[in-house]
Amino acid sequence: MGAGSSAPPAAANKKPWGGVFDTATDARVEAFGQSVSYDCRLFRQDIRGSIAHAEMLAAVGVLTDAERRQIVEGLEQIGQEIETGRFEFKQELEDVHMNIERALVERIGDVGRKLHTGRSRNDQVSTDFRLWVRDAIDQIDRLLRDLQRAFVGRCEADAGVILPGYTHLQRAQPVLAAHYWLAYAEKLQRDRDRLGDCRRRVNLSPLGTAALAGTTIPIDRERVAKDLGFDGVVANSLDSSSDRDFAIEFVAALSLVAVHLSGWAEEWILWSTTEFGFLTPPQQFCTGSSIMPQKINPDVLELTRGKAARVIGSLQSLLVLTKGLPMAYNRDLQEDKERVFDATDTVRACLELAAPLVAGAELRREAIRERLDHGYLDATTFMEHLIKLGIPQRTAHGLVGKLVAAAMKERVRLADLPIEAYRSVHPDLDESVYDVLGVDRAIEAFRSYGSTNPELVEQQAAAWRERLANEEPNP
Ligand code: ARG
Repeated sequence: MGAGSSAPPAAANKKPWGGVFDTATDARVEAFGQSVSYDCRLFRQDIRGSIAHAEMLAAVGVLTDAERRQIVEGLEQIGQEIETGRFEFKQELEDVHMNIERALVERIGDVGRKLHTGRSRNDQVSTDFRLWVRDAIDQIDRLLRDLQRAFVGRCEADAGVILPGYTHLQRAQPVLAAHYWLAYAEKLQRDRDRLGDCRRRVNLSPLGTAALAGTTIPIDRERVAKDLGFDGVVANSLDSSSDRDFAIEFVAALSLVAVHLSGWAEEWILWSTTEFGFLTPPQQFCTGSSIMPQKINPDVLELTRGKAARVIGSLQSLLVLTKGLPMAYNRDLQEDKERVFDATDTVRACLELAAPLVAGAELRREAIRERLDHGYLDATTFMEHLIKLGIPQRTAHGLVGKLVAAAMKERVRLADLPIEAYRSVHPDLDESVYDVLGVDRAIEAFRSYGSTNPELVEQQAAAWRERLANEEPNP
């Protein structure tokens, strides 16, 4: 392109967009509208995106090779300055994008004014943000995998440990501790799958959709996309300019992670009470009381439960932020970043502590074992035993209900009831009932796929170990 260099217009307003203005921006508006205090976190993505854009502009002949080189070198130097804390971000330049561009012009002169050819901050912001979210997804995915490893890693050491399983927080049926650990591996796997699915939609390049309608400059969007590691380009410029679905679904996926962590934390808070006495969290993850000397409080678990509120709040904010926006770009969208950053930071912090906490907690096996004889955890498997003898389910349910009522009255286990009690509810029952009562036999009796049957659980633990061991190591 043959345009010669021209001096910047001496507008009263020294903004990159100041040409049409004849007065300076009110300082209060600058403070109100700035995003650089937080979108400076996008600086690496911004530099990388601008370099890819400049390379493309040169490839299509919009920049000369000398111009490209100056721009790329200038951007790299600015990147270095920011990395080493030597760069001063200015609030009056609003955001990270205009700060970097202004620094480039100051550094290399007029050539720097060509960088923004064929793009707008609207697609620039979206590009940087998508690159950031993509990295965040990969990072959270690795942390989820580490936590899965912590849960699966417990299966061997806790082999044979039986826990009371609950519904309505009332004792229900016995489950293997390993079955419980693997339940979390499954939940976390769904979280990872959701993030992976979200990543496919995040990883499309909006660069080149410009402000809203595209550009008349003969750019090569595919080239930039490839350069930045995107899987393709967003197809519609209006859609792209207004779209924050990618950020919202990322935070929705994070919210489910937070909900899973919160449920786990709540469970372990209960388990570590004197009332339950099932679990001792590692002391490094607990804190004491300034007035009650005996206290060992599970604060990390409580905060994990509490921080889910922030993440869910961020999802709520993003949905409300976007729900009434007309197409295409609106400045409201600037409010998206802090919510995404906060949700990511929060979930990351929770996951970083969850893995060592899971690995380091001690199951209080004896206390748990003592409790297994209370709560008639074998009642359902005993009912199924009667069904297998030919008694209809509803009848068997009623008979066992009567036996449980009798045992409750005597404050004994089902296995402690005399044979007469069994005979009195059904003439076919004999001494063999004692062969199927008790939690250990109940556990062994499970058969269905996905049940807490020891062999099936061991098979699943082995499958998980293999699956997690064969994953790529942390880059
Ligand atoms: N700082 C703004 C943001 O992050 C950039 C907006 C650019 N677009 C505009 N039309 N003002 O969203």
